[in-house]
Formats: sequence, structure tokens, C-alpha cells
Amino acid sequence: MNSYLPDLEAIAREAGRLLMGYLARHVTIEYKGEVDLVTEADRASEKLIVERLRARWPEHGIVAEEGTRSEMDAEYRWYVDPLDGTTNFAHGYPVFCVSIALVRQDGQLAVGVLYDPTRDEMFAAERGLGAKLNGQPIHVSQTGALAESILGTGFPSHKRHKNPNIHFYHQITLRTHGVRRAGSAALDLCNVASGRFDGFWEFNLNPWDTAAGALIVEEAGGKVSRFDGSPFTIDSSETLASNGLIHPALVKEFQEIFAGRGLDPLPDARDYKK
Ligand code: IPD
Ligand code: CA
Ligand code: CA
Repeated sequence: MNSYLPDLEAIAREAGRLLMGYLARHVTIEYKGEVDLVTEADRASEKLIVERLRARWPEHGIVAEEGTRSEMDAEYRWYVDPLDGTTNFAHGYPVFCVSIALVRQDGQLAVGVLYDPTRDEMFAAERGLGAKLNGQPIHVSQTGALAESILGTGFPSHKRHKNPNIHFYHQITLRTHGVRRAGSAALDLCNVASGRFDGFWEFNLNPWDTAAGALIVEEAGGKVSRFDGSPFTIDSSETLASNGLIHPALVKEFQEIFAGRGLDPLPDARDYKK
């Protein structure tokens, strides 16, 4: 089988260039929900990617975040996030990417490409062939102790007042070198794959956020699961990724926090002095 990567990387790169063009000028923001943003750049990027995928692989289905649904019975389906990190993008904060994955009908992740145009970084993986960053093999970190690890997380814009993640953020911050919240779940996963993060978790992500990044983490030697350690699927509402070494410790954290650890009141801000 010929590699998908050369053509797919060219499509992701072209979409990334298009996003950079929009970044330089003022984009109009629309709201899909209370703080769920979409811009003309998201739509233009989706249009470009969908046109290119259809032209190159007309037999595959496509599911893209801003509305494209086609050939839903096909054996293989593309999952496309035309701009992951829209809120960052809309504010000019340069942390965002293009994410595209090919998934078999039975859910097996086959190919994933993620392009960060702000750093000109192309992450790519095909099942069984390893993960690469700009053509060079990448591997997850070797950190074995949770206390010495750095992690990423995110807070979805949907139903944010019901999101319990602040408890997990607080508890895991207290037991690690720290937790970052950069605003692009797909890039967070690639940060695990390349060893920049030792782990990442988030509630309620969508398949277009996770499909490419999850494959890239696995192909870089890492692990992706649900919060209880059970197998991850792209329709899971829980994503827990790590270098594998700290995975058991993270699963234990989740067990204990779900059981109520850390639900006591936070320290009083008025008492916090140097
Ligand atoms: C969002 C980003 C963010 C995550 C949200 C996602 P979008 O995707 O990945 O980091 O916290 O859950 O929805 O809307 O920018 O494509
Ligand atoms: Ca996204
Ligand atoms: Ca998006």
C-alpha cells in the first residue's frame, strides 16, 4: 500500500498556510454556543481540506467539525479539525493546528497528520510505522514518576459550568511539576508524543480533536485510554494520554478524585500571602 502521508501532509500544510494568512488580519468571530467560537478561517480551512481529500480519495467518507458529512457508509472515514485552537486563533494567541485522521469503519486509527503552522511542525503517523515530527522519528518521554512529570489538560467550551475538570486540575497540579492549559487538545496530544508533556487528559473531546493525536501518541510509544485505563475509542468522552510509564499512577489519581478526594473547599484567597 502506498503511504498516505506525502499527499496528506501537503493538504495539511496548505490549510496551515491559509490559517496563517487569516491570522494576520482581523477575523470575524461567530458563536456556536456561549463561548464556542467559529471564524471564517475555520470554514475556509475546512472547505480547502474537504475539496482536496475528495479529489484525492473520493472513495473515503469525511466528518469535519464545521459540518461536512459525506459517504458515511464508506470503509474508511476522514476526521478533520480544520482549526484546533479556535479561541486562541481568534485572540491572536499562536497555539493552534490543523488535524486530519483516517479511521477504519471498525474504529481502528490508520493515519494521522497534525500541522502546527506557527512553528512549521508536521506530526505524522501511520499505524505500525511509528510517529514522526518533520520527518524525524519521535518518542514519548522517559519520566517514570508522576511527581516529576508535566501534563496538559483542557476545558471544553460546551456546558463549562458543569465541567468537573477544575478539581482534577487542582489535584494533579499539587502532585506534579505542573499542568498546562494551552487551548489545543490535538497539539497537547502531540506534545505527549514528542516528550514535551508526560501526559494529557480532557473530558468530552470530539473525534476530530483526538483521532490524529491519539494515533501519533500510540505510534510514539505512549498510551491512550479512558480515565479508568480501559481502551480509548474516538467516541470516548474521556481521553487520558501518557508516556505509558506514569499511566497507572494517573489512573489511580482519577479513581481517587472521582471518589471525592479534593472536594473540600479550596484555600481562602484572602489568606494567601507570601
Ligand atoms: C477545542 C480545543 C481546546 C479544547 C476544547 C476543544 P476547537 O477545539 O481543542 O483545547 O479544550 O475542548 O473543543 O473548538 O478549538 O477546535
Ligand atoms: Ca478541536
Ligand atoms: Ca476546530
